[in-house]
Amino acid sequence: MPIHDLPGRTRPALLAATLAATTLLGVGIGISRPDAADAATSLKTLAAAKGRDVGFALAVDRITEPAYPAVADNEFNLVVAENAMKWDSVEPVQGQFRWTGSDVVADYATATGKKLYGHTLLWHQALPGWVAALPADQLRAAMRHHITTVVDKYEGRVAAWDVVNEAFSDNGDGSRRGDSVFQQKLGDGYIAEALTTARAADPDVDLCLNDYSVEWVGAKSDALYNLVKSFKATGVPIDCVGLQGHFVLGQVPGDLQANLQRFADLGVDVRITELDVRVPVPADATKLAQQASDYRRVWQACLAVTRCRGVTTWGLTDRYSWIPEFFAGQGAALMFDENYAPKPAYQAVAEALGGAPTPSPTTPTPSPTTPAPGVGCTVTYVPNSWNTGFTAEVRIRNDGPTAITGWSVGFAFSTGQAVTNGWNATVSQAGAQVTARNAAWNATVPAGGTVSFGFQGTHGGVNPSPAAFTLNGSACRAG
Ligand code: G3I
Repeated sequence: MPIHDLPGRTRPALLAATLAATTLLGVGIGISRPDAADAATSLKTLAAAKGRDVGFALAVDRITEPAYPAVADNEFNLVVAENAMKWDSVEPVQGQFRWTGSDVVADYATATGKKLYGHTLLWHQALPGWVAALPADQLRAAMRHHITTVVDKYEGRVAAWDVVNEAFSDNGDGSRRGDSVFQQKLGDGYIAEALTTARAADPDVDLCLNDYSVEWVGAKSDALYNLVKSFKATGVPIDCVGLQGHFVLGQVPGDLQANLQRFADLGVDVRITELDVRVPVPADATKLAQQASDYRRVWQACLAVTRCRGVTTWGLTDRYSWIPEFFAGQGAALMFDENYAPKPAYQAVAEALGGAPTPSPTTPTPSPTTPAPGVGCTVTYVPNSWNTGFTAEVRIRNDGPTAITGWSVGFAFSTGQAVTNGWNATVSQAGAQVTARNAAWNATVPAGGTVSFGFQGTHGGVNPSPAAFTLNGSACRAG
C-alpha cells in the first residue's frame, strides 16, 4: 500500500497558498511584483498537490534552534531521523531500549502533521559493540527482538521502515556486504527474515530496502533489483525501495528515471531517500546553478514515475550536514544555506513541482537563537533627504567566513516613510517593514565582501534612519 494512502495518517495541514502579494504596500523594483496566481508556495504544498512527499532528515539536537523547525515545519511533509532511530540510539545495551531521541522525531512528526519515515532497523553501521559479539543463534534472536520492539513501539506512526540499509557491498559489484555482522553470521537469508519479522510486528507498515550507488542501472542496482524481484515471487514482504541519492555535483545519473521505473514495475514503491548534492567548497554561483539543475533533475525523474513517492534530503541546512565531516573539501549539499536561506536548488525544486520561479513568501526568515560562530554582517545606511523625499544607499558587508548566496535585508521605518523605487535589489514594503532581496546578478557576497543597493522614497518631514537591520534573518551590526 502506498504509504501516503495509509489510513489513520495525518495529512499535513496545507498552508495558505499565497502570502497576499496584494497586501504588500510597496513596489517590487527591477523585477515585477508577482500577482497572487504567480506566488510561490512552500515545497510541501507543491509536493502534496502532486501526491508526493518532500522530506528531510531531522537531527534531534538541532530542533531547539528556532530557525530549524521554522523552516522545516513550513517546507516539508515528511521527516526521518538522521540518526535517532538507528540501533545504537534505541538499543545501546542489549534489551534496554532508549526512546529519547526517537520519540523527539516521532513527536515532531505528530505535532507538525508530517509523515514519519523509519530509518533504520538493520545496518552494519551505528551498531553497538555487543551486537557484533553475539554468536549466530543469539544474534538472530537479538535481531528479531530489536526489529519487533522498535516496529511495535512506532506501529501506526511510522509509515515505512528502511528494514535493511546498505545490504550490498561498497565495491559496487552487486555482492553482499562482507562487513555486515548479519551477513557474516546469518548468511543471505537474514534480509528475508528481517522483513518477515517486521511484517509480523506491524501488518500495515511499508517495508523497504534502502541503498546507495543503486540510483543508476549497474551491477549493484541489478543485484538489488533481482533480490526484490525474488521476494515478490516468493512472497517475502517487500513494499518499497529507497535509492539514497548522495550525489556528486553534476553527476545525477541519466538513467535515474528508468531505474526508478524498473523497480516500480516490480510492484514496489520507490523514493529518493537521502538526497544531497555535494559541492567543492567554497560554493559559488556557477556551482549552485549546477546543483540546482541536479536537484531539478532528481525531482523530475521522481515525478515521471507514478510509484515514486517523493524525495527526502539528508539534512535541512548546510549549517548542519554530514558531508563536510565525511568528504573533506565538500559541502553546501542541501537546499538551504548555512543561514537557512533558500538556495537556487530550492527554487529549482519548487519549479519542478510547478511553483512559480520566485522565492517562497511563506518561507520565514527566522533568527537563530544565537548567531552562528563567525557569521555576521555589517550594514551601512546613508540617507540623502530633501523636503518630503529622500534616497538611501545601503551597503552590506558579509562578515562571516563563507560566501552568502541569496540575500534578504530587512529593516523597519519608524515615521511612515515609503519606498517608491529602487535599484540593485527588489525592494518591497509591508507596513513599516522593508525587505530588499538580491537581484539575480548580485546574489553572491563573498566572505568579507560587500554589496550595495539603494532606493528612493518619501517621508513626512522627518526621516530617521532605521534602527536595526537583518541579513537573512540574522541581526547585523550598523556600520
Ligand atoms: O552522538 C555522538 C556525540 O555524542 C559525539 O560527541 C560525536 C563525536 O564525533 O559523535 C556523535 O555521533 C555521531 C553521529 O553521527 C551524530 O552526530 C557519529 O560519530 C557519526 O558517525 C554519526 O554519523 C552519521 C552516520 O550516518 C553514521 O550513523 C551521520 O550523522 C548520518 O548523516 C549518516 O547517515 C547515513 C545514513 O544513515 C545511511 N546512508 C548514508 C548516510 C550518510 O553516511
